[in-house]
Amino acid sequence: MNEDEKQAKIDGAVERLRASQDPEKAAEAERLAAERAEHDRIMKSNASGTETARSRINPDFVISDNPNSHIRHVIGIVSGKGGVGKSFVTASLANLMRKNGHGVGIMDADITGPSIPKMYGLHGDVIGDEFGSFPMQTDNDVEVMSMNVLLDTEETPVIWRGPVIAGVVKQFWTDVQWGDLDYLFVDMPPGTGDVPLTAFQSLPLDGIIIVTSPQELVSLIVKKAYNMAQMMNIPVLGVVENYSYMNCPHCGEKISVFGESSIDETAAELGIDVLGKLPMDPSYATNADNGVCYMSEVTALDSAVKKLESL
Ligand SMILES: Nc1ncnc2c1ncn2[C@@H]1O[C@H](COP(=O)(O)OP(=O)(O)OP(=O)(O)O)[C@@H](O)[C@H]1O
Ligand SMILES: [Mg+2]
Ligand SMILES: [Zn+2]
Repeated sequence: MNEDEKQAKIDGAVERLRASQDPEKAAEAERLAAERAEHDRIMKSNASGTETARSRINPDFVISDNPNSHIRHVIGIVSGKGGVGKSFVTASLANLMRKNGHGVGIMDADITGPSIPKMYGLHGDVIGDEFGSFPMQTDNDVEVMSMNVLLDTEETPVIWRGPVIAGVVKQFWTDVQWGDLDYLFVDMPPGTGDVPLTAFQSLPLDGIIIVTSPQELVSLIVKKAYNMAQMMNIPVLGVVENYSYMNCPHCGEKISVFGESSIDETAAELGIDVLGKLPMDPSYATNADNGVCYMSEVTALDSAVKKLESL
């Protein structure tokens, strides 16, 4: 027994002693002790994520690993608002890492706006056994779990409330047999709602990557995401700017469609890395629409790949 465990035992005993005169308090103390013991047990048995990432999780928010998941690195992909290409960046990172020989999965945590399956041309039926569901496999061997493949029809809107939706994220972690993965990318819904909060609290994230586009009030949005991560003790691995520029189809010249980007200044101010500036490329959209997003080679994400491989 280490010092912490000894102290916890003593605290528990003192609590029970104090409560012994009052049966209601005694029952409450028992319940709390049982809960604490259960959280302790889960903390000790969980093995996915790095040790550092696991140690950041508050015992009150810990959730169980699936016994058939062995995930080395968990990376969150976030954005300030919708439509900046977060899912596309998530899929592109997954494809590049897979191409480099890593075992890769994507948890589509954008429960109400799932878009990952479509980019890979994936459709239902998820199968499972007594240990949980199996993720779907893309043609380039990326494991995917998404609300989209669980719904009866892909057009069914998800109209649940925040806490229920956040519960799905926990299920995507605990009830899915991810198998052996080097990297699990979590595509979060835009903003700072229940889902990112739950993921930040309960998943052993190595860190997050923030995706922005030049149309956004970049510095404000990046700072907001950065602050949320700071508050929850999650490292910001860097920022990716999508729709950064366009290559002229005639001469290949770089055109800054939205004016000069200020991402470098913002990143420098916060002391975070710029992990890529992606061009607006119609072929990316065509491949994603056709369910073959992995046919696009998004070379602008090379430094993001290096960063992930150095974790
Ligand atoms: N750099 C790019 N060049 C061309 N098309 C792109 C690029 N990035 C994303 N797209 C396309 O734009 C569309 C929207 O992208 P995506 O679904 O990734 O956005 P998102 O930020 O995840 O949106 P949401 O917030 O709704 O989840 C997709 O069809 C995608 O293929
Ligand atoms: Mg998306
Ligand atoms: Zn030109």
